[in-house]
Amino acid sequence: CSTVHNTMCPLVGTLLLILSGLLNAFPPGVRASWRAAQGVNLRAKLPSDEPTAFEPGDAAPAFRVKLLDGDFAFPPQTGPGGPVVVHAFTNKSAFLEALWCSDQSLADLLETLPDTARVLFLSLDDSAPADAAWMRGQLHRVASGSGKEVFSRLHFSPVPVHALGNWVPRVLYSWGCTGHNCGLAQAVFTSPAWDIPLVAKRLNARYDWLYGHWEQKPYRLTDAGDGCRPGASAEGRVAWISEGGCSFFTKVKNMADSKAAGVLVYALLGNPVQDMNCVGEECYTALNIPAAMVHLEASVHNALLAGLPVNVSFQTTPSPNVFFAIDQQGALSEMGWFLYPSFKFVTWQAEWLNFREGLQERLRSPALVVPVFERVKMQGENGSWAAVALPSDVLDYNVMELDASLSCPGPRDETCAHWDHTVQLFVCCDHFGPYCNMELGRWITAFRRGIGRWVTDVSPLLPLLNNERCAFTMKTAPWAMPWTVSLNLRFSHSSRNSDELYPFKVTTLFGGGVFDKDYNKRFKAINFSVPVSTKQVELYAVITGHGSDENGCGEFCVTSHHFLVNKKFNNTRIFDSAGTAFGCTLHVGEGAVPNEHGTWLYGRGGWCDGLQVNPWRTDITSQVDMRGSNTVLYFGLYDGRDPNPSSNPGYIIMYSYLVFYK
Ligand SMILES: *[C@@H]1O[C@H](CO)[C@@H](O)[C@H](O)[C@H]1NC(C)=O
Ligand SMILES: *[C@@H]1O[C@H](CO)[C@@H](O)[C@H](O)[C@H]1NC(C)=O
Ligand SMILES: *[C@@H]1O[C@H](CO)[C@@H](O)[C@H](O)[C@H]1NC(C)=O
Ligand SMILES: *[C@@H]1O[C@H](CO)[C@@H](O)[C@H](O)[C@H]1NC(C)=O
Ligand SMILES: *[C@@H]1O[C@H](CO)[C@@H](O)[C@H](O)[C@H]1NC(C)=O
Repeated sequence: CSTVHNTMCPLVGTLLLILSGLLNAFPPGVRASWRAAQGVNLRAKLPSDEPTAFEPGDAAPAFRVKLLDGDFAFPPQTGPGGPVVVHAFTNKSAFLEALWCSDQSLADLLETLPDTARVLFLSLDDSAPADAAWMRGQLHRVASGSGKEVFSRLHFSPVPVHALGNWVPRVLYSWGCTGHNCGLAQAVFTSPAWDIPLVAKRLNARYDWLYGHWEQKPYRLTDAGDGCRPGASAEGRVAWISEGGCSFFTKVKNMADSKAAGVLVYALLGNPVQDMNCVGEECYTALNIPAAMVHLEASVHNALLAGLPVNVSFQTTPSPNVFFAIDQQGALSEMGWFLYPSFKFVTWQAEWLNFREGLQERLRSPALVVPVFERVKMQGENGSWAAVALPSDVLDYNVMELDASLSCPGPRDETCAHWDHTVQLFVCCDHFGPYCNMELGRWITAFRRGIGRWVTDVSPLLPLLNNERCAFTMKTAPWAMPWTVSLNLRFSHSSRNSDELYPFKVTTLFGGGVFDKDYNKRFKAINFSVPVSTKQVELYAVITGHGSDENGCGEFCVTSHHFLVNKKFNNTRIFDSAGTAFGCTLHVGEGAVPNEHGTWLYGRGGWCDGLQVNPWRTDITSQVDMRGSNTVLYFGLYDGRDPNPSSNPGYIIMYSYLVFYK
């Protein structure tokens, strides 16, 4: 705790306990990951004592880099230290070429980069002086002289990465990358007419558009003109097609119809490669064929024109990493996976670093902290389990928060679980009463990212902790790869004077179920009366939609959920961003983990990947008869009607409660 930058001090105490008790039981690799994922600067050292390897979470030593004009210094000499993104360009990557040639991508950087963030642009190649000037020129061109202050935070270095003389290359080289547009995707052309194969950079079509994959084998290549008319026979071959004349979709669909094995679209001379994707209505047609964009290779083209056989195969050559970040505390961090060539992924990671900085601030506010899980493994049907002795005065508080984090077996994102799954936290304090195994919290895991940490306000559920000893179970799908969970309960007093209410009773209402035509038939109205001395009655529900029928229900369809109080008051929650292309990117600033390995961007039925599910709370005091009897009935609709899927119905996970405050 000796440096100003070290904000993890409150954690160090617990950490040392864990370390002293457990560290020696693990091999060195595991130890490193424990430290790294905990985010503690155990390795913070003087520059002269620079570490020989870096992992996410390690402290970034100070460094300077020469720029086209002036110097870049970390840490900054003046002003607050926002997040720093370091990018290493290479034109050997078609992905990076497209990232830097799309006006939309460039405009997104200028318009959406958080105003605390700085970006350092480097080049991996000897052409660094030209690359730096070109990158700056690309951005200036798009900014079109509109005097953007953002340029004061964008820094272009003419020094190639291999000549930097500092630790930055070590991070780029040792973090390396393959998969999801990291590494160098290439097409390898061979022909009996040539001595050596021709290796060309390629950019695969958008990951969520086409379902085909390149196999590890040579394909015969055949010229198919511009691919705009059906009929050209490319059966069993990879079609060599020129850009232009019709949409990428039309070309790829025509080739799929003629049973081609794959499609290579070449950019017309002087044009950059682009992100091939469907547009609008086109996207409703699924195409099961791989496709990629390359440059026009004269020798390939000429060989095909001359009728010589040309084969093509596909490979990815690992490369140094091309992005990393330094957070506000000076710790190194990964940038996640770039699903397509857009600088929005830089913005999202910077937004998330800002969120995390705010979270650290929030965690420094006073609270009674009760640890439940401290870096325990969660896997299998039992998940992780702990019996916890609660301080006797927890019911005197009126704020209860769940501080949960999910990290991975190793320090890098690549070690994380591949799929997104629901995580539920159950509590049982009265083993025989009605409060056993109630859901206290819900999260959805991120696709292959281990940075998630979330604080969820679950104050209304305080009455569930009605015993000094409670059992907590946190679990996900039993077949999911393991996660490492940490969970603290945080008890405090509401800081709002008007909010002196204390929840004292919780009753359960409705659960979800299979979202089919009988969904609503299963719910019967519940009668309730309000306990004496109640000041406020609240409806509390945690609802998420999952599965996929022909309408995408319940994950990707718009469902609405209604709690009808006293046959009159229709309390409604609508998941209207479900199925939208960018619905979940809007929640990065609230902690949704960005830049995941899968389709995290799409809006979903009441949830996002890598985020807690926020409880829906509605004050219904004015809707109830405080002395007499009341009724409440739940129903869930798709498109304003009872669901009626023809097959594969989805399902709703719901825990709902009435909460009484005094
Ligand atoms: C990148 O490579 C493409 C062809 O491979 C070329 O046309 C383009 O000029 C290059 N861009 C830069 C900035 O070097
Ligand atoms: C070219 O590809 C064809 C078809 O995939 C294959 O039969 C042939 O062996 C390949 N030739 C070379 C030289 O790789
Ligand atoms: C889960 O817990 C039950 C009951 O304690 C036990 O019998 C079972 O073996 C456990 N399953 C696993 C996979 O650990
Ligand atoms: C709820 O109250 C109504 C009217 O008082 C009564 O008819 C009904 O049977 C009650 N339902 C239940 C489930 O107790
Ligand atoms: C409640 O509101 C929804 C739309 O907001 C509507 O579809 C539904 O019919 C309403 N139900 C009642 C009983 O008023």
